[in-house]
Amino acid sequence: MRWSSALLAASSPLYPSRGSICRRCCWQAQIRRQHAGNPTLKSEKPYYVTSPIFYVNAAPHVGHLYTLVLADVLKRWHALLGKKSILCTGTDEHGMKIQQAAEKAQRDVRGFCDEMHQPFKELARAINVDWDHFIRTSDPDHRFAVQHFWLVLEEKGMIYSKKHEGWYSVSDETFYPANAVGWALDPATGRKFMASKETGKEVEWTSEKNYHFRMSELQDRLLQFYEDNPTFVVPETRMKAIVQEVKAGLKDLSISRPSERLKWGIPVPNDDTQTIYVWVDALINYLTKANYPFQIPGREDAAGWPADCHVIGKDIVRFHCIYWPALLLAMYLPLPKKVLTHAHWTLGKRKMSKSSGMVVNPFMAIDRFGVDCMRWYLILDGGIKDDAAYDNSFIIDKYKKGLQGGIGNLISRITKGKGWNLRKAVQQGQLTSTEELDQQFKSCLVQLPASVARNMENLNPGDALAKIMNVIYDTNVYLAQAKPWDLSDKPEENRLNEIIYLCAESIRICGILLQPFMPEKMNTLLNMLGIHEEARNFTNAQFGSDKDYGTPKYLLRGADGILFPGLSSDF
Ligand code: MSP
Repeated sequence: MRWSSALLAASSPLYPSRGSICRRCCWQAQIRRQHAGNPTLKSEKPYYVTSPIFYVNAAPHVGHLYTLVLADVLKRWHALLGKKSILCTGTDEHGMKIQQAAEKAQRDVRGFCDEMHQPFKELARAINVDWDHFIRTSDPDHRFAVQHFWLVLEEKGMIYSKKHEGWYSVSDETFYPANAVGWALDPATGRKFMASKETGKEVEWTSEKNYHFRMSELQDRLLQFYEDNPTFVVPETRMKAIVQEVKAGLKDLSISRPSERLKWGIPVPNDDTQTIYVWVDALINYLTKANYPFQIPGREDAAGWPADCHVIGKDIVRFHCIYWPALLLAMYLPLPKKVLTHAHWTLGKRKMSKSSGMVVNPFMAIDRFGVDCMRWYLILDGGIKDDAAYDNSFIIDKYKKGLQGGIGNLISRITKGKGWNLRKAVQQGQLTSTEELDQQFKSCLVQLPASVARNMENLNPGDALAKIMNVIYDTNVYLAQAKPWDLSDKPEENRLNEIIYLCAESIRICGILLQPFMPEKMNTLLNMLGIHEEARNFTNAQFGSDKDYGTPKYLLRGADGILFPGLSSDF
């Protein structure tokens, strides 16, 4: 199709561009009139979180599971705060890597992607990701968004064509400069090959004409953006590394490949001899599902843009924290607010990866340990700054201590204790004791929600979860010290109820705060306590804010009454 300026104008984004301001102003004014009085114009921008989109050249592994769970926990946390929240995940289906994988499998590439994207969708379902969009970059709406983005970028004079020579890694889908590659040796075969020093992946020499993005012109604006947004990249160490890299100088970026080499991708508008670089195509996925090109003036943010948080692994930081903001700056589009970059899961001290073959099948892990156990474990032990080693024995130990012995034991003791009545204790609902043991415990409970919220705000779900777990452990210690089972006599009833009330409040508050991490299990736990559905939001996680619970929603007996049963002996 030949792209005309009329098509571009009819769907252009609403940010300044050279050359067509008047035409666009007219058009904007017309749409503004159409939407005047539309109630959606006034609604609040939703919280918008994204996961990376996954390459479909191989099956998913536990590393992918981790990044998905992190994104989902952030979404659910904001929903708990009462915000409309949107999560986008999906699959990255274009590029040389996928084209070659399909060739190797002797498949037609579209059929290959249709099949290979399925396990990623199933995985998101299996781990209970509450996604709003599952994008496939081969979807027509995405193709439209990418080509539109390209045309606007071109219109702004930010694209030019020139001969490009350099080292390309198909595995990383990246060009590397000469000083970033060197000889490497395959120990299995003794073969010598050129590889990226950063990733160890093989590179090949290419010399071709392609389009370039004038990224070098954006160095100052990017640095200014980092200065104005010092927590754009989390954690801080990676923010510093990015600033240093940009300060060292930015080169223009090659953003297309000859279509005789790369057939599987989105053609450059008006030049089908070139295919758009897979990373430009992939990054725009975040905009596609935020309804780019934006149509409603004044409500460009209605579907979530700018993203509040991109969750990504540390291996793709450069693309998200340099190339992506540079492209958006060039387009005068708003930049994402934060990028949470996490470390990797390792197996046998090496990064878990499809190319090394060192992977853990996430479906088997979910089957063995359960959905919520895996969600909880990955967040608790997964690394943000540093890599974390994956081992079944670590999951078993943590499960026994934290879930079975911690939360499970506590809910069972409080709801099933013979010597007291939970409903009565909640009705009495007060603490008259001035003893240090009680007061200290109460003050832990009072402080917990704000401290968890601070950690979540700082994109540190692991520490937030650890804080909640510490209160669970403290509650078991408190219970052991306060010994309510010794106080079942009538005269001691007030004191007994006080202790049970404090413990019930602890479980209630922790249960509410744990919902984003373990949605299913916490639903059961809150039912076991008899907490009403409408009393499960963050605002309810305040000490003493609910006097209405204590009668279980249903009676849980036998195996069903055990929140975290023992793991089977095959482990
Ligand atoms: N398709 C690109 C992302 C494009 S986003 C616009 C890609 N895909 S990937 O399938 O290779 O990786 C997807 C995500 O999984 C990345 O964030 C990557 O860091 C993460 N992980 C891959 N292996 C991992 C571990 N071993 N541990 C944790 N996360 C890992 O990159």
